[in-house]
Amino acid sequence: MPPAPVTVNEAHRDERRVRRLNSACGIMTAVQTKSQNAVLRDSYGRAIRDLRVSLTDRCNFRCFYCLPHGEPPIAPKEQMLSYEEIEYVCEIFVSLGIEKIRLTGGEPMLRRDIETIIRKLSRFKTSRLIDLALTTNGYFLPERAHALKSAGLDRVTISLDSLKQDVFKRMTGVDVLDKVLAGIAAAKDAGLEPIKINAVIVRGHNEDEVADFAAFARKYDVKMRYIEFMPLDSGHEWARADVVSGKEIRERINERFPLVKVNVARGSETSARYRFADGAPGEIGIIAPVSEPFCGACSRIRLTADGQIRTCLFSTVEHSLREVVRSGASRDEIVDYIESVILKKEPRHFINDPGFVTPSRTMSFIGG
Ligand code: GTP
Ligand code: 5AD
Ligand code: SF4
Repeated sequence: MPPAPVTVNEAHRDERRVRRLNSACGIMTAVQTKSQNAVLRDSYGRAIRDLRVSLTDRCNFRCFYCLPHGEPPIAPKEQMLSYEEIEYVCEIFVSLGIEKIRLTGGEPMLRRDIETIIRKLSRFKTSRLIDLALTTNGYFLPERAHALKSAGLDRVTISLDSLKQDVFKRMTGVDVLDKVLAGIAAAKDAGLEPIKINAVIVRGHNEDEVADFAAFARKYDVKMRYIEFMPLDSGHEWARADVVSGKEIRERINERFPLVKVNVARGSETSARYRFADGAPGEIGIIAPVSEPFCGACSRIRLTADGQIRTCLFSTVEHSLREVVRSGASRDEIVDYIESVILKKEPRHFINDPGFVTPSRTMSFIGG
């Protein structure tokens, strides 16, 4: 059953409560930067530690929950950040306390200079960067997983929406299940671990495969993550009835493979984590942004391939870091700009509110 919608008044009350709590706990709502221990904080006291950088808005798949009506308008090449610009701004972000960088897309491996980008970014691991990861559809991994590892990539997350050839084709628009499975094997072989597998579960498409995915996780010792369908599709065809809730997903897995909650603090993680009660390898992650939102602990910001900062997956406004960088701004001016943008981060998404507005850009532009 869908959760009861939260009213706008309730939303505002939530926001005021977060602010009051933060000030009572002495959490800084201003930004602390320009010091060795700098950390970006938004106006609700959340520390921003994760940067997700989209390398391209192009994709060789046509997942219906993302790009249902063919290729959307592609940003002109001159608007795309070059690898030098990506390196430059990421270095600044890392100096401001970013610890995790995830490369996304579109399909990030369509970008020919991806190994160069990874090589450049992996150098920041000598300073404050801890984790360099990639989200991919897996298509190019069979040939290129080892090169990514050699360039300095730590790990990959691979989308896999069905284990059945016909359903995979229907959901992604391409008949390449075997290639993606080979990509997962190649990632394992290259040591791009822990490997996470993402499946968006959509009613009438793949909810009958939930337990089969868990069997896959056990067999191949991977972290299988189930994601609730979010209203980010370019066709704006999302309907609440299509969302398979985290609760239902958990129940479907539990029926076949009893689960035990992994006993670690969740922090800013997107997924609730479970292990198998019988001690089998693999792990389960349930990402339920619609029915069990996790915005209160969000540590994420996004940079689109054309250089726009998005402070939330569901932002309806963007902030052009590209223009600031290309205007010849000094490093301090860029820092000031980033700090001011972070202060505008939304308190939460409004999917469950009556006045919800779908973001104008789809996931292929925003990155996962
Ligand atoms: P790690 O914990 O670093 O492995 O990654 P992650 O959980 O952030 O993983 P990933 O990038 O694979 O994200 C998984 C999915 O969770 C994405 O594809 C989105 O569907 C969803 N997601 C990620 N971040 C957010 C977020 O900030 N808000 C919402 N609502 N959904 C998110
Ligand atoms: N809802 C939930 N997740 C989505 N993704 C793309 N579109 C959606 C959506 N509408 C996720 C995919 C992929 C990542 C890039 O984004 O699972 O793993
Ligand atoms: Fe491509 Fe990812 Fe969107 Fe699928 S979800 S169409 S793989 S960008």
